[in-house]
Amino acid sequence: MPVIRTNDINASSAWARLHQHQRATRHMHMRQLFEADPHRFERFTIELDGLLLDYSKNRITERTLELLSDLTEAADLAGWMTRMKQGEHINVSEDRAVLHSALRLPADASLPLDGRDVVPEVHAVLARMRRFSDAVRAGAWLGATGQTITDVVNLGIGGSDLGPLVVAEALAPYACAHLNVHFVSNVDGQHIAQTLQKLDARRTLFIVASKSFTTPETLLNAQAARRWLTGQLGEAAVARHFVAVSTNGDAVTAFGIDPANMFEFWDWVGGRFSVWSAIGLPVMLSVGFEHFSAFLAGGHAMDRHFFEAPFERNIPVVLALLGVWYNTFYRAHTHAIMPYDHGLRRLPAHIQQLDMESNGKRVGRYGERLDFDTGPVIWGEEGVNSQHAFFQLLHQGTRLVPCDFIVPMNSHYDCGDQHQVLVANCLAQTQALMHGKTEGEVLSEIGDLPGDVVDMLLPQKLFPGNQPSNTIALNKVTPYTLGMLMAMYEHKVFVQGVIWGINSFDQWGVEYGKQLARRILPQLSPQGAAADHDCSTNGLIAHFRSRHDR
Ligand code: F6P
Repeated sequence: MPVIRTNDINASSAWARLHQHQRATRHMHMRQLFEADPHRFERFTIELDGLLLDYSKNRITERTLELLSDLTEAADLAGWMTRMKQGEHINVSEDRAVLHSALRLPADASLPLDGRDVVPEVHAVLARMRRFSDAVRAGAWLGATGQTITDVVNLGIGGSDLGPLVVAEALAPYACAHLNVHFVSNVDGQHIAQTLQKLDARRTLFIVASKSFTTPETLLNAQAARRWLTGQLGEAAVARHFVAVSTNGDAVTAFGIDPANMFEFWDWVGGRFSVWSAIGLPVMLSVGFEHFSAFLAGGHAMDRHFFEAPFERNIPVVLALLGVWYNTFYRAHTHAIMPYDHGLRRLPAHIQQLDMESNGKRVGRYGERLDFDTGPVIWGEEGVNSQHAFFQLLHQGTRLVPCDFIVPMNSHYDCGDQHQVLVANCLAQTQALMHGKTEGEVLSEIGDLPGDVVDMLLPQKLFPGNQPSNTIALNKVTPYTLGMLMAMYEHKVFVQGVIWGINSFDQWGVEYGKQLARRILPQLSPQGAAADHDCSTNGLIAHFRSRHDR
């Protein structure tokens, strides 16, 4: 099949055949597919190092997958994977390489970028992070008054918050008992105020985490933290209580943080892919270097699988193709993520940023308008709780909502049968979504009732089923399997971007709101210039000025 420019993907024969296939198979029910093939589970599962993907509960046949894999050829997926891996500047609008996978390479690997091997630089920063985190954890790094550190506050937002937050929460069973890690992201003063009110300045360490070191939310929180600290301990305390993680050394110095207390990373690491870099410092502080290394090793194992496995046995590629199938050909619009693991409760928020900031785009990498649906709305909530919140819509609503269920086979906690109950719920949901409840099943359940009552009850108790889901089963949530899981989603998002012809690594759409906020801010003050926007925005500014009591 000829390789075509990805922006013409919807003109490819693969695309047309998939539309045709969708029309021909859209009434097919998964119930029948399972009845027809008792080996469907073995056929549609892939296992790698403690992570199993079961994708049998999807509206697919072998033919669907063949046709979807034609798209990978038409989009030149193999070529884009090689370009990414070799450090070509595939982030064209920012002229940058995309090398977050290099952060997970072992120390004896090498990866030249623009004539320099990046691996020694990556490991040099890891070694500095290790020295620092070992010192803090061992009580050898002392605050300005000679006290040990008991609390670490990460000040960051977006990728400088969500990735480390998810990992730190998920790996809580590995956390150092005498070091609490907190994350403050929102510019709403409640967030930092409520966090600081519980802390002792003498024992608190702040990490200002910002790739650009220009993000106002983070810098305002950092200034608030600094006022809080210096108000109690004086200016000189900053050196012992503030460190920074950034690519922008000048701005870090200008903020007053000693460059010796800065952990760097590089412009070839996108914010939403940065948890593997020094942005992971709060995680290393919490779980220690060895566990952080195991997290990187898990990510690297998934990289090797992604770059080496044939596409039909490649977990991120299969997940991406299924996503394209529903999103583009079924026009499903959304994708839900349900971790059946309390530690992974914020994973949906991280994947939301990863996916929606990467592929929430209507223009291809060559600047052309795309005439098809691209990135879905990603949402979700931890399992079981979500059953009691929004699963009604999944089971009996009018929308097609493909789901990922993530479930560990083992718990870190011994709480009687509670883990079995959790797993049973997870499996039951995927089964109910796939199978549904038929008329015969409902009738035998409601028994002998008057005809008009049956007429009223029957449709309400029917479950159509045929709702697709993937189940991602981890042996246990460990640093290694968590690394695999998070790298898996990164590669899935990349593959989808390649198929849709998107540059998944810029985020221009976030900028405009920031520009407008800068204009509106001075207009909120009583002495501010008159607002000059549309009448709604002007009205709301006037409303604020009249009601705000400071
Ligand atoms: O939301 C836009 C964004 O640039 C994200 O991509 C990034 O993760 C976040 O802001 C924070 O940026 P920084 O790390 O530069 O403060």
